[in-house]
Amino acid sequence: MSPARRRVGAPKPPKTGPSARGRAPDGPARRTSPGGGMSLEHAGCVVSTDAGLLDVDFICAALAGSYWARDRPRHVVEQSIRNSLCFGLYEKQGGRQVGFARVVTDGATFSWLCDVVIDGSRRGMGLGKFLMSFVVAHPQVGGTVCLLGTRDAHGLYEKFGFARSEQMRRPPSPGRPGPPCQA
Ligand SMILES: CC(C)(COP(=O)(O)OP(=O)(O)OC[C@H]1O[C@@H](n2cnc3c(N)ncnc32)[C@H](O)[C@@H]1OP(=O)(O)O)[C@@H](O)C(=O)NCCC(=O)NCCS
Repeated sequence: MSPARRRVGAPKPPKTGPSARGRAPDGPARRTSPGGGMSLEHAGCVVSTDAGLLDVDFICAALAGSYWARDRPRHVVEQSIRNSLCFGLYEKQGGRQVGFARVVTDGATFSWLCDVVIDGSRRGMGLGKFLMSFVVAHPQVGGTVCLLGTRDAHGLYEKFGFARSEQMRRPPSPGRPGPPCQA
């Protein structure tokens, strides 16, 4: 296990199988992981909802390069991951994480898709669409009304059934910049 990678999911038994952190989450095209996540293989990459596979270093770096979360502290990223349904995209050979998407969902009526990002070296290869196809097919997302906000990627999401609509938005209360640090 790479010491640079930190587990942020709910406590689980130590992993020794093929989905252990730092190893390629390989196996059949679709499977259920020990952590309860699903995975799907496509074009040398797999998508998994196994929180134990997430590479927080990758996610923080990817979000730091985004226009919407460049100033998000690591402990806030970690808390957001803990409280969300997260999708990781991994290279099958070696298990390097190359994509991420996060969904806040009640699993029944409503979900919010956010933090969709593909590693800069792997963009324009269909991986964003691959990741999105998995997200919208997930049972905790596909059966809900799903919202998202985007500055310029409307065309991507319109391929998956999203339509433009106006929403009201309330920012965080002043003086409450985020959740407390949880080391
Ligand atoms: C947006 C992003 C996730 C797309 O992933 P990707 O792997 O590069 O995209 P894909 O190769 O799967 O193709 C995306 C499709 O959506 C379209 N698209 C529309 N708006 C787009 C945009 N802003 N960026 C990328 N693709 C866009 C592309 O033209 C392409 O359509 P096509 O297949 O008909 O040519 C990725 O480019 C990325 O991480 N960008 C930086 C972060 C970001 O902007 N995230 C979205 C925030 S809402």
